[in-house]
Amino acid sequence: SVFLPDSNFPADRVQHMQKLVHYGGKLDIFLRELNDLNIRVAMLDRNPDSYIKLDFELLRIELREFEALVSQLKESLNSSSPMLDSLYTEIHNMTLIVDQLETFDKSNLEVIRIEFAKLQRKLEECQKEANGFSILPGNCNHTGIMSVSKPMVIQINAHLNPGYKYGGWGKDSKPVRGYESMYWYGAYSKPSVYEFYLYSNYDKLIQRSSFTHHGLPQGYEGAGNNYVVHGNTVYYQAANPFRMSKLNLTSSVYSHRHVTRASEKFTYTYSPNQYLDFSADEKGLWVMYATEEAKGKIAIAKIDEKSFGFEEEWTTNAYKPLAGNAFMVCGVMYATRPGDLNTEEIYYSYDTKTKEEKYISIPLQKLQENFVNLHYNPTDQKLYMYNNGYYVSYNVRFNKE
Ligand SMILES: *[C@@H]1O[C@H](CO)[C@@H](O)[C@H](O)[C@H]1NC(C)=O
Ligand SMILES: *[C@@H]1O[C@H](CO)[C@@H](O)[C@H](O)[C@H]1NC(C)=O
Ligand SMILES: *[C@@H]1O[C@H](CO)[C@@H](O)[C@H](O)[C@H]1NC(C)=O
Repeated sequence: SVFLPDSNFPADRVQHMQKLVHYGGKLDIFLRELNDLNIRVAMLDRNPDSYIKLDFELLRIELREFEALVSQLKESLNSSSPMLDSLYTEIHNMTLIVDQLETFDKSNLEVIRIEFAKLQRKLEECQKEANGFSILPGNCNHTGIMSVSKPMVIQINAHLNPGYKYGGWGKDSKPVRGYESMYWYGAYSKPSVYEFYLYSNYDKLIQRSSFTHHGLPQGYEGAGNNYVVHGNTVYYQAANPFRMSKLNLTSSVYSHRHVTRASEKFTYTYSPNQYLDFSADEKGLWVMYATEEAKGKIAIAKIDEKSFGFEEEWTTNAYKPLAGNAFMVCGVMYATRPGDLNTEEIYYSYDTKTKEEKYISIPLQKLQENFVNLHYNPTDQKLYMYNNGYYVSYNVRFNKE
């Protein structure tokens, strides 16, 4: 069996290269095929007995296409790019490896996983090399989100369980020293929160090899799945009694606060129990919830990390039950709403600095309809989504000032 975590071609980069070399529809088809590939290979991993030779044949064919694609890309770029040259060599090497895949044992397949992860990062660097305008992480020198890339489907959750639809994943948004590359994940088959897994870096996440695991003790369990990790601390909604909680991963100490104004009547479209939605951006830590007073409209509160109290509160005009989710970027709240089955729309923004609201329309492609955790991470300017059991991320592009 084989599990190719990064088998999904990074869509946004493809899109960019597509523009670069005027490829038309071919890449799109290719991309969809790779999407299928990811799911097929994940199935192989879960159920090795169902292995069929045909799957390997297809895998080989698709890798050959991948190779041809990069070779075409290479030719169509006028100036030679050392990045692309080495990328080509690596893909070629990988094709050779996959040709021998059937004789490989499990530990060798781990090597392939890492190779795919490396490849994905190389492609990312390729894009950065060719990309002109960008905002440095941490800088809010822009006028808001312009667009969001196509989804990058990383892989199915670490339990390899498509039934674990309620969860979240991401990166620490304000890592402490030594944990700059840490990723986290938690999920369950119901919207209850029982545990968190931590991975020292991206490769470990892909290999599902966590360095630690925190099971929430009885009485500390959570609900809803809008948790985040910020400053080596998990912020989540405790279930019973209802309150906001944090688990300091450094000290393993729990703290709690009642959020008097937060209502337990209004949740987001796709999941019950989502009363507190935590978010971290360039300005710090926030929590969003609907209030009875505002008849279900979302309020935003800025959290003071030291005291675990509120600094200030704002009320928006986004009606929570119609929203898919919400997140903060540079002190601006963005709310989404369902479009069609595979599209979510970022439709509303509220700036806490100017108290200005805007109705906007930025599409967000989804792999599957339902998702329960969507948040922004200011360290890499990506959106992280937990999409029906799959890890998905997006690059965010901003409007120039
Ligand atoms: C490709 O494979 C060859 C031989 O196995 C190896 O020497 C070379 O370093 C590999 N190149 C890359 C870029 O991985
Ligand atoms: C913000 O952007 C403007 C125009 O792009 C530039 O002139 C200015 O120096 C930038 N400021 C900072 C703090 O980066
Ligand atoms: C977590 O605990 C460590 C060690 O006690 C402390 O230094 C740090 O400030 C705590 N972080 C938060 C967010 O409470």
